[in-house]
Amino acid sequence: MAITLPPLPYENTALEPYISALTLEYHYGKHHNTYVVNLNNLIKDTALESKSLEMLILLTADDATKSSVFNNAAQVWNHTFYWNSLSPNGGGVPNGAIASMIDESFGSYENFTKLFKEAALGQFGSGWAWLIQEKGKLSILKTSNADTPIAQGLMPLLCIDVWEHAYYLDYKNARAEYVDKVIGHLLNWEFANKNLEE
Ligand code: FE2
Repeated sequence: MAITLPPLPYENTALEPYISALTLEYHYGKHHNTYVVNLNNLIKDTALESKSLEMLILLTADDATKSSVFNNAAQVWNHTFYWNSLSPNGGGVPNGAIASMIDESFGSYENFTKLFKEAALGQFGSGWAWLIQEKGKLSILKTSNADTPIAQGLMPLLCIDVWEHAYYLDYKNARAEYVDKVIGHLLNWEFANKNLEE
């Protein structure tokens, strides 16, 4: 059972002008796809070959001898989650259950955006910023490189990829500008509400 690259949930051009078709062509078509190809090569003809993506992550998270499997598996999972965390109709103030939880957990939407941006900018080097739900309360987490909250048993609601490959073609070194556009125009609150229900 090979791990497959899920289709993008929208057209390559759907996130323009905030994320270009060229970025998606490389980020999804090359980077994400390469993690899938590498992962399948690493698990081929091993005991891990029959495992689901989530199981691969959990089984290798604390095993230094399997770090390549972990890194590629986590990056496959993180990227699929990231594509779903973005929407051409996203961004701005949320609706639904997530809206009141944001107010309860962070005081206000404005304060949430400040803290989420701080996490995304504060991640030194490559990594991810996450909105997490734990015991009915929301929190913000950053992880480095391929690391993923699901390895710690945490359920994320949304994420932002802050690897340079996510923004360099469109924003060069200006990570802050990319993060502002994602928060303001692309965060998929419908996806966050759906994750909250599960
Ligand atoms: Fe990425």
